[in-house]
Amino acid sequence: MTDRKLLEMAAGAAGNAYAPYSRFSVGAALECEDGAVFTGCNVESCALGCTLCAESVVVGNAVSAGHTDFIRLAVFTDRSNYCFPCGQCLQLLTEFAPELEVLIGRGDGRYVSYKLRELLPNPFSAGQME
Ligand code: THU
Repeated sequence: MTDRKLLEMAAGAAGNAYAPYSRFSVGAALECEDGAVFTGCNVESCALGCTLCAESVVVGNAVSAGHTDFIRLAVFTDRSNYCFPCGQCLQLLTEFAPELEVLIGRGDGRYVSYKLRELLPNPFSAGQME
């Protein structure tokens, strides 16, 4: 799968976003080692703290289908700025795929690519509790 195709899938997922409060639609597409791809979008609540980010939703979709072998994530917003995943989502992604590649696409079709480790270089890890 090309970067562009994965970003297109993220853009498609953004179309399903439930974001009546922020009016900021986010889509995510997560590719697994075996080629399976899952999508997710942000889901808001009038109790704003209940809001789910697109990245957390896509992780839940993949894990609940039995997939944890993530290799590449695309995040898309139809805006002029890139939408970098929030800290909480970066930590959740690190749980399963510290080597993940993260593509971030914006409305004009441009995208940037990072390693998850670049975005969260010092994640909390279970080893720190020893
Ligand atoms: N949001 C995401 O879905 N992913 C991010 O990486 C950042 C923020 C959502 C949450 C909320 O619905 C809206 O964007 C504004 O914060």
